[in-house]
Amino acid sequence: MRLVVDLDLCIGCGVCEQECPELFEVGDDGLAHAIVDDPGPELFDCAGAAEELCPVDAISILGE
Ligand code: F3S
Repeated sequence: MRLVVDLDLCIGCGVCEQECPELFEVGDDGLAHAIVDDPGPELFDCAGAAEELCPVDAISILGE
């Protein structure tokens, strides 16, 4: 699994980081970044929740 944040869409609301701090961090640029390249299965639920809750659909989960 790979996580991609579309930085053109992200508005920096921070919901992904709140929901899943193991995988997302809002950086100094005010935008979210995936902080783990290849998360293990134990983080799939968390990643899925962040993807669903992002208000602008900026998060994509690839290679499921
Ligand atoms: Fe950005 Fe969506 Fe996270 S707007 S900060 S990727 S919840």
